[in-house]
Amino acid sequence: MSKKILLSGIQPSGRPHIGNFFGAMKQFVDMQETHDCLFMLADYHALNAIQDAKVMKQNIIDLAIDYLSIGLDPEKSIIFKQSDVSEHTELAWIFDTITTVPYLQRAHAYKAAEANLSKEISVGLFNYPMLMVADILLYDTDVVPVGADQKQHVEITRDTAEKFNRIYGETFKLPEPKILANVAVVPGIDGRKMSKSYGNTIPLFAEDAEIEKCVMSIVTDSSGGIPKNVYEMHKLFRSEEELTVLYKQHEGKYKALKEALINDIKTFIRPLREKRKTIAGDTAAVLKVLKEGGIRAKEKASAKMDEVREKVGVKLY
Ligand code: ADP
Ligand code: TRP
Repeated sequence: MSKKILLSGIQPSGRPHIGNFFGAMKQFVDMQETHDCLFMLADYHALNAIQDAKVMKQNIIDLAIDYLSIGLDPEKSIIFKQSDVSEHTELAWIFDTITTVPYLQRAHAYKAAEANLSKEISVGLFNYPMLMVADILLYDTDVVPVGADQKQHVEITRDTAEKFNRIYGETFKLPEPKILANVAVVPGIDGRKMSKSYGNTIPLFAEDAEIEKCVMSIVTDSSGGIPKNVYEMHKLFRSEEELTVLYKQHEGKYKALKEALINDIKTFIRPLREKRKTIAGDTAAVLKVLKEGGIRAKEKASAKMDEVREKVGVKLY
């Protein structure tokens, strides 16, 4: 029996953090063994936020290095960047034509942007879900591992696949999101969702000094013996049984508990950071992985796009 197809992606929009890792990236690594995987760098999505060619280039290379450093393996999986497969934007256009404006106005990301009155919303941001729908549907994806904040985008993907199938006949498979419940939303050092855009992260490849600084600035509630934000983060690294003992032992001693967390994070990050340094030393090899991945992805996407062109009636020869 053939394996199920997995696709997921991350935008090259800055240093990944432990929220990205435990919410999404760790599942990528684990599922490589059991699925046919495509791991994408969503560079065209990131254009909404990054409009500086030098920064974009560096971010793409950095994210590719990050992918390889956590153990994504080009021998097992296809690692590619979105912009190398023009079928993504082509298919997104076709989905634009069957999607209504009020439907996209209900998207959380759009509503959040709308609530932020200081910045006008680009058409790219408004249409963002349609490009993600194309990313997923082009490869007959079965499963999309993501953090909880992306759940709605996978629902939009299913709706759009159904709508297309209804209009043009059975063409697209309906994918399922895969969201790990206990790490669906990893909190940041201020207690809100950890996010690059809030500046409340612990970077995945942080140096020891940076880890110390971040953890020491975790906001602790002053009432009760258990500092909730410290505990929530600690759960990523130790079992609840171990933590119960530890937090009982150091009840009310926030500094000691933070130091214990620092040690656990350092132990976890150190080997990843070392591996990253080695991989970062050979940029040519990293670019080769991306280029070859792009060729492999393109092959699949262009076959699917051919079918779509036939279905919508623009394929004449
Ligand atoms: P950010 O909010 O930091 O910009 P992204 O939007 O780039 O993160 O998210 C990349 C992946 O990581 C997505 O699958 C997203 O759901 C997941 N993710 C991001 N932040 C968290 C978090 N705090 N907890 C769990 N998963 C997260
Ligand atoms: N929108 C996702 C994010 O911000 C990134 C993304 C783009 C993605 N295309 C995708 C995730 C396809 C999963 C599948 O995190």
